Amino acid sequence: MDKFIIKGPVKLKGKIIISGSKNSALPILFASLLIEDSVEIKNIPQLKDIDIVMKILIKLGVKIKKKKSLIIDASNILQYNIPSYLIKSIRASIWILSPLLTRLGKVNIAFPGGCSIGNRPIDLHINSLKLLGAKINIKENFIKGYIKKKFIGNIIRMKSISVGATITIILAATLASNITIIENSAKEPEIKDLANFLNTMGANIQGAGTNKIVIEGVKKLKGGVYKIIPDRIETGTFLVAAAICRSKILCKHTNPNNLNIVLNKLQKAGAEIKIGKDWCSINMHNQRPKSVNIITGPYPNFPTDMQSQFALLNLVSKGTSTIKENIFKNRFMYVPELIRMGANIILKKNILKCKGIKLLSGAEVTATDLRASVSLVLAGCIASGITIINNISYIDRGYENIENKLSSLGANIQRIKY
Ligand code: UD1
Repeated sequence: MDKFIIKGPVKLKGKIIISGSKNSALPILFASLLIEDSVEIKNIPQLKDIDIVMKILIKLGVKIKKKKSLIIDASNILQYNIPSYLIKSIRASIWILSPLLTRLGKVNIAFPGGCSIGNRPIDLHINSLKLLGAKINIKENFIKGYIKKKFIGNIIRMKSISVGATITIILAATLASNITIIENSAKEPEIKDLANFLNTMGANIQGAGTNKIVIEGVKKLKGGVYKIIPDRIETGTFLVAAAICRSKILCKHTNPNNLNIVLNKLQKAGAEIKIGKDWCSINMHNQRPKSVNIITGPYPNFPTDMQSQFALLNLVSKGTSTIKENIFKNRFMYVPELIRMGANIILKKNILKCKGIKLLSGAEVTATDLRASVSLVLAGCIASGITIINNISYIDRGYENIENKLSSLGANIQRIKY
């Protein structure tokens, strides 16, 4: 597995271009299975997770042309057997259920995998599909599903908010008969993006981005062109990189409106933030950040995907702070690695208490999941000496070209290929 060797501490300076959103691109690629004409999707980030979804689609018989954008032709779905190693390698493969049930009336896949951030149940997905008329059996780590003719619209009140299950329902309801209403739906911008994509192709989905989504099933979707929104988590990650390096950078091709709470916390940490229609900048004026308290929650609350980056920020900030993780309660596997770099942290259940120190020290550490690994990379940029990060394959799943983007800002980071 590849490694990063990072030499710090550094100052960052300059501009970067933010890539398309991973968490939009993944469901939108699965949604393209619902469309029998060809669709062109722009701003797809080049990531390992995206490559896996493309492999899954190709196995089904979908034709994909990769130019600057992706042109997807799902007119012929030839079969529904997908190798388990592909399904198991990403959590997002759960989103194959609704399109395959819609197109073929049956599905049989291995249990989806994904990042190792603790137990990730799929009950909300399965129960919702059942409410829409599917018969589903889970046996020996396989999900077998069957539907008579079509999904049938229903009112689904989510017992807890789930991004993934909201997406599963939208995908199932788009071509269903009747109307589906999702109450207590997730409000993430990526859900709005999926609904905008499907509506562009002829769907009738109202209310995405609020806690009540109404989907009137349509008979057929048509082809078209769509551009995916910028990645808000990548943007936030680079802003934190600049904050901890006491630096000044500009993120272009982004949407600061989707990042309100993150920008707000950075301002509380002492950053000067400026925003425009499709850019945002941060300037720390050479000052060490001040620590900020964080409680993660569903959008528009603080995103769990920015939790480890803000933990790192707090570790090198003035003051003490608390971080409470409410979405994935075990999402703290990076903590022992940061302690090896000198961090002063105590973890009790899902609460992290940090006391800021001025400088971390380089060490050999191992990445354990996507967002945790990016925090180790950023930690390497502010630690004194050399940091070696093993097992960086995780980072390639969610950050396009991270070492080139960070190097262009002045980081000293090198990939060692194995
Ligand atoms: C998505 C994002 C991920 C982000 C997360 C929360 C993608 C590809 N991933 O993940 O980056 O961190 O939203 O913003 O978009 N749950 C259940 N049963 C279920 C489904 C979920 O109990 O059937 C629980 C989860 O364990 C978790 C909570 O609900 O505690 C929220 O999970 P969910 O919003 O579904 O996250 P994902 O869609 O997996």
